[in-house]
Amino acid sequence: MEEKKAEFKVFKNGPLQISGDFELFDSAGEIITRQSPIFLCRCGKSADKPFCDGSHKSAGFSG
Ligand code: FES
Repeated sequence: MEEKKAEFKVFKNGPLQISGDFELFDSAGEIITRQSPIFLCRCGKSADKPFCDGSHKSAGFSG
């Protein structure tokens, strides 16, 4: 199977999207997910970190 290059996209006032082939590890070195795409929180308000749960909208995140 051919690998698909990982790509990163920052959404204005929202999360960081990662797509393609990658592995995401937690602080203990365990794989959290290989599923693509994922959306990582940039605002710090998500209750499901490191993933975005949409809280950036109600938090009025800008960035
Ligand atoms: S960026 Fe979406 S909850 Fe933080």
